[in-house]
Amino acid sequence: MQVLGIESSCDETGVALVSADMRPGAGVPALLAHALHTQATMHADYGGVVPELASRDHIRRVLPLAQQVLADARQPLSAIDVVAYTRGPGLAGALLAGAGVACALAAALGKPALGVHHLEGHLLSPFLGVDAPQFPFVALLVSGGHTQLMRVDGVGRYALLGETIDDAAGEAFDKSAKLLGLGYPGGPELARLADFGDAQAYALPRPLLHSGDLDFSFAGLKTAALTQVRKLGNVCELARANLAASIQAAIVEVLVKKSLAALRQTGLDRLVVAGGVSVNARLRAELDAACAARGVRVHYPDLHLCTDNGAMIALTAALRLQAGVDAARCDYAFDVRPRWALQAAEQGGG
Ligand code: KG4
Ligand code: ZN
Repeated sequence: MQVLGIESSCDETGVALVSADMRPGAGVPALLAHALHTQATMHADYGGVVPELASRDHIRRVLPLAQQVLADARQPLSAIDVVAYTRGPGLAGALLAGAGVACALAAALGKPALGVHHLEGHLLSPFLGVDAPQFPFVALLVSGGHTQLMRVDGVGRYALLGETIDDAAGEAFDKSAKLLGLGYPGGPELARLADFGDAQAYALPRPLLHSGDLDFSFAGLKTAALTQVRKLGNVCELARANLAASIQAAIVEVLVKKSLAALRQTGLDRLVVAGGVSVNARLRAELDAACAARGVRVHYPDLHLCTDNGAMIALTAALRLQAGVDAARCDYAFDVRPRWALQAAEQGGG
């Protein structure tokens, strides 16, 4: 079975084709080809994503990307068995652009369509790597819009352990980067600057570190960073690098300690880290060291599949169909879910 996946929840248009063996006990679906267009430069002038521009650009990009994917995979349109798309969460207009094209394409081909959860895509994306995890595991989902710890017992079997009560980790990177006068998206820029700084230079808060639960809070960190930026006034390059390193260290420490607490609480010895922030080198280094010391295996998506992409959407649809927790539909009636809890995408949910 070949699944075409379309991602359009925010500022990346991603399309991919995966091939899945549907026989019982078959292995992980294989990625045949994928293509991505990032809108980052388009939104950079505005310092953040402009939803209307994002929707219009998705409409422009998605079909050429689909053509490119089919050409790269050397497959005709008729080889597509299911068209999958991101149903939510995300920007409503952006989601509608992808869902509309996906359902129109499926209808034209006479093939079924399936809407999937964006965070489930991130969570399952390490299955496309060489070091695919085994269930059960704890998942740390760290993206621009979400920060969650989940217990994952299988495809479609997700229990929320903790989440952010305000800003997401990626948002903390992005907002702090903006305060430091860095470009959009801020996460990678702040991480680059942090390489030249001293992470001990500023004592920044680690909110909820000792709260005893698995929730996160990053809004206070941004405020503390703002206070430091104001104090510094016309900051020199080294002071900015030191502040960037200190901010990154604060975010990373909280993510690492809460992940370890989730592993202790569940008694599991496998951790999956996914979402845009899982690219972060310091986060990976600290998690690797902490987990190695405790005999925990850590799995990440391949670097190019950490941020939004179509491969994770095609993969998620294929895995859900393989596991029998979902069925693709031919009614082509689509609704998107800009807000959608991952637990609600469990077996029989959606
Ligand atoms: O998963 P993603 O592509 O989109 C959402 O679903 O939100 O994540 C994007 C987030 C942004 O906040 C971006 O700044 C952050 O991931 N990010 C990073 C790095 N690369 C991307 N954060 C820290 N360090 C990085 N190297
Ligand atoms: Zn994402």
